[in-house]
Amino acid sequence: MKETLSRIRSEALEQIGAPDANLEEIRIKYLGKKGALTAVLRGMGALSPEERPLIGQLANEVRESIETAIAEKSKELQAKKLEAKLKAEKLDVTMPATAAPVGHIHPLTRAQRELENIFIGMGFSIAEGPEVELDYYNFQALNIPENHPARDTQDTFYITDNILLRSQTSPVQVRVMEHQKPPIRIISPGRVYRSDALDATHSPLFHQLEGLVIDKGITMGDLKGTLAVFAKKMFGEDTQIRFRPHHFPFTEPSAEVDVSCFVCGGKGCRLCKGEGWIEILGAGMVHPFVLSNCGIDPEEYSGFAFGLGIERITMARYGIDDIRLFYENDERFLEQF
Ligand code: DAH
Repeated sequence: MKETLSRIRSEALEQIGAPDANLEEIRIKYLGKKGALTAVLRGMGALSPEERPLIGQLANEVRESIETAIAEKSKELQAKKLEAKLKAEKLDVTMPATAAPVGHIHPLTRAQRELENIFIGMGFSIAEGPEVELDYYNFQALNIPENHPARDTQDTFYITDNILLRSQTSPVQVRVMEHQKPPIRIISPGRVYRSDALDATHSPLFHQLEGLVIDKGITMGDLKGTLAVFAKKMFGEDTQIRFRPHHFPFTEPSAEVDVSCFVCGGKGCRLCKGEGWIEILGAGMVHPFVLSNCGIDPEEYSGFAFGLGIERITMARYGIDDIRLFYENDERFLEQF
């Protein structure tokens, strides 16, 4: 039996020592319930009482040395595995990271913020009004009664006969004047809607910026001065402005305002279509009817108003020829700004 035990030990240790040893298999083969060592222990009943403890002790020693060898080999294998893994997954923490793509502000939002900053710099504050508006504010209070032809050019989306999506930011003028005593100096940027088919120059949703100044003794000179400063800040110091007589129901007198072409300086080019001037906004002196509608005495106060299209200005500035590009979210377009 002694020989069997030492044979078992040397055989097991040799197998454990092999480089490709399957430790679990070896454990089962020698130490398992049906293993070689267990078989020896089972046969101990046949031994004499003197031999039994000696063989028993030896068997324990053999078991221990096999177990220890397996444990050590297992550790060694694990360490080797880890080392191989570390080698394979070499990581250079000093390597520059691949940059995650970061977006930026939409050109329209940027233009809006720029416009806001220019007017804030001139002492204006920002007013807001609802996009879902009453007919009264969008039309009637602005001197556009039912059946007025101006309603045709500003056809919009109706929620009821009386409630609509605002077709212009001008209703904010009325809302501000109803709640605030002069002096008033506000701008109001925001979305407006018109029932227009989408094409290169029309969109059923676009953005405007409204301006309103009311105080004692405000004249057309103040309007002109304000817009001249604005045009220089927005389009460059050499920019000139030009007023052309026009008609808006809520201003009298009214004008369309052009800026000298900032590409050719007025000589005529592709951007200004040979005109030398680019139309950027509508403006005028607030109509006395509108003032009295809002509880402001036209004998005591006067003021000016203007309204510009944010898309129009942004398109002119960058030479963008299709308004739809603003809304399509095509990165190839957006990343250029
Ligand atoms: N609301 C006008 C439009 O959408 C633009 C406009 C013209 C606004 C003259 C004004 C103004 O405040 O005085 O066509």
